[in-house]
Amino acid sequence: MEYLMQGFGVSISFGGVQAVKDVDFEVRDGEIFGIIGPNGAGKTTLLNGISGLVPLSGGEIHFRGKRISGVKKPHQITRLGIGRTFQVTRPFEGLTVRENVAVGAVFGRPRGGRKADVHEVVEAAMRFVGNADKRDALVPDLPVAQRKRVELARALAIEPKLLLLDEVMAGLNQKEIEVVMDMVRRIRERGTTVILIEHIMKVVMGLCDRIMVLNYGERLCCDEPDVVCRNDDVICAYLGQRFTQKRRNGGATSGA
Ligand SMILES: Nc1ncnc2c1ncn2[C@@H]1O[C@H](COP(=O)(O)OP(=O)(O)OP(=O)(O)O)[C@@H](O)[C@H]1O
Ligand SMILES: [Mg+2]
Repeated sequence: MEYLMQGFGVSISFGGVQAVKDVDFEVRDGEIFGIIGPNGAGKTTLLNGISGLVPLSGGEIHFRGKRISGVKKPHQITRLGIGRTFQVTRPFEGLTVRENVAVGAVFGRPRGGRKADVHEVVEAAMRFVGNADKRDALVPDLPVAQRKRVELARALAIEPKLLLLDEVMAGLNQKEIEVVMDMVRRIRERGTTVILIEHIMKVVMGLCDRIMVLNYGERLCCDEPDVVCRNDDVICAYLGQRFTQKRRNGGATSGA
């Protein structure tokens, strides 16, 4: 089987800190692939490695069977069809919502896209995330939920084959989370593969086909949601050794 993306022994270091350690992963075409793990586990760093923002200190990342790590720059990786959002939103602050989304459509598509349809692509992306009515607002003036939607629209405007979402639902209320979960489902239905980093378990379990768990930069396991949430190493990473022992001894497991 050919995977859409594969990581082979991916390592990423910052000085003495090895944030990602020898991680293998494979993402299938059309799936929603979750990455979870405690704070500081290396999730965002791995995403940064995929999008070329930080160099790998070891290993390789391949997209559609070709190596991208170490050979493609971030803008070239974007133009291959890999879009992303940032955990801390990164709008172009002096630009309006529409202009921010246009940056994706103009610069992020292969060969800059066809100029004539930029308007249509931008409008479609804003309509999809439901912020077309905010088109002329400056992004810093918007509340967090709206800023996240601008990130998402900008990433969609590159017309990605693979979309990397870094905690797009953090800071949203219950209703807003449901809306964004539905968007992610529709994005996948349109044929875009999604890699999703998320702390909210309901989101991860409800959306992902498979989940990879990172802990201290290492891959703990990678499997379907119901298998992952029963894995002792995962429970231990989240809840501590004592809880796992209690579980093995037949103690209470509710809430795991
Ligand atoms: N630019 C950097 N320079 C130095 N250390 C860094 C840098 N970026 C991340 N790290 C370190 O790498 C480790 C992994 O961080 P990362 O942000 O990838 O974790 P994360 O899993 O995304 O966590 P969170 O759930 O809190 O977002 C942490 O120890 C962090 O302090
Ligand atoms: Mg992070």
